Amino acid sequence: MIESPSDTGPTRTARAALTHAFEAASAYLQSRDSRPVWPTATIESLRAALGGPLQRLPIDAGVVLDDLVRAAEPGLVATTGPRYFGFVTGGALPATVGADWLAAVWDQPAALYVLSPAAAVVEEVAGAWLLEVLGLPSTASVGFVTGCHMANFTALAAARLEVLRRAGWDLDQNGLQGSPPIRVLVGNEVHVSVVGALRMLGIGSRQIERVDADEQGRMRPASLERALQSPTGPTIVCAQAGNVNTGAFDPLDEIAGAASRHGAWLHVDGAFGLWASACAALRPHMRGVERADSWATDAHKWLNVPYDSGISIVRDAAAHHAAMTLGAAYYVETAGAERDPYNWVAESSRRARGFPIYAALRELGRDGLAEMIDRGCSIARRMADGLREAPGVTILNDVVLNQVLVRFGDDDRTDATIAAAQRDGTCWVGGTTWKGVRAMRVSVSSWATTDEDADRSVAAILRCAGCAA
Ligand SMILES: Cc1ncc(COP(=O)(O)O)c(C=O)c1O
Repeated sequence: MIESPSDTGPTRTARAALTHAFEAASAYLQSRDSRPVWPTATIESLRAALGGPLQRLPIDAGVVLDDLVRAAEPGLVATTGPRYFGFVTGGALPATVGADWLAAVWDQPAALYVLSPAAAVVEEVAGAWLLEVLGLPSTASVGFVTGCHMANFTALAAARLEVLRRAGWDLDQNGLQGSPPIRVLVGNEVHVSVVGALRMLGIGSRQIERVDADEQGRMRPASLERALQSPTGPTIVCAQAGNVNTGAFDPLDEIAGAASRHGAWLHVDGAFGLWASACAALRPHMRGVERADSWATDAHKWLNVPYDSGISIVRDAAAHHAAMTLGAAYYVETAGAERDPYNWVAESSRRARGFPIYAALRELGRDGLAEMIDRGCSIARRMADGLREAPGVTILNDVVLNQVLVRFGDDDRTDATIAAAQRDGTCWVGGTTWKGVRAMRVSVSSWATTDEDADRSVAAILRCAGCAA
């Protein structure tokens, strides 16, 4: 470590701790691609290694970190490795990890401009770039949240406020009790986080109207049109870009037409699918996306930013602002020329999440982003093709994006193959139930995955399924 004259006691301690963290991080990165993707540690061994009574006296920061690394590492899942295909988990681009570390070192509470001008301007700049790459209106407002669940919540809070305002109800003053009922229509394959977000907004599961979806999980626009014919009040329609199982896109243009004919607010949940807009080959799936009123997506999925990072976007910036802003005597708010980041999210004190998103967009550029998305889709197709060649293996979905659903004969064999593949450790794949049958879910979401990783993983999965590899 380089010593400098300004190394006072606390600075020296902090620098020493970061050196320990850097060494551990480097060693982890070097071993990550070759270690089993799923850890071998048991819950008992982790509790024994990490637990015990809290000691009375302080411990040197470097020792704390070394102990943490030794105890936690056996229980880490190599989610940033190239053969992690679970959930829809992105890797972490190098510049984003560095920027995230810096966000912690700088420790900016990115609520108000006055708390961190740099964090505020980075959000402003990254927000504008995001709107550009996603093909959304440049005047829309952007909030940087923890994930798509909260992005759905934020956008739907703006929707709730605005549809009630149009119905003559001031939600801010009067609250939800006694308000005109809000109709919410969702596709039958809506993601559970939209339902959770609506619940937090006072709209229960039973009050949500589900619209038919087709065999790929796409909302049927004719069914939506029919549902919207019946008497309406304030109405919100939630569409989806990228079904969590199949990757399918709702027909957004037709849905936007129906929503606009009936004066409904259209929200698009595009946790990973929204990134299809960044790639010319996929853009036809997104036709009409720019006609919606709000959008939600994740940066920690396909943009490959470290957890946690989601993005909420609202066409009507005034509604977004009104739904989120607070105001307090001691808040030093700007008159509007500068961004106060807390005005766009349901948080006050908050991590400066803009830095890693900014770093991702700079590291990739527009072309790099398009290439990363395109490559993920091509690897998903390659894996589907490799798997479907084996006897008794069926691909259940049209592989239009980065998701592959694989069935191995029957439910029992499918579950046994998933469990065996997880134990094998070459890659990690999860399971799901799709249209009443069990399936393996393969989600290609990491920038680090190569064709070779895909082939190694397919061979391992087929070996686990008892097919010759
Ligand atoms: C379509 C969709 N919406 C919302 C979410 C929730 O995102 P997060 O877990 O990042 O909050 C997911 C997560 O997989 C998703 O696939």
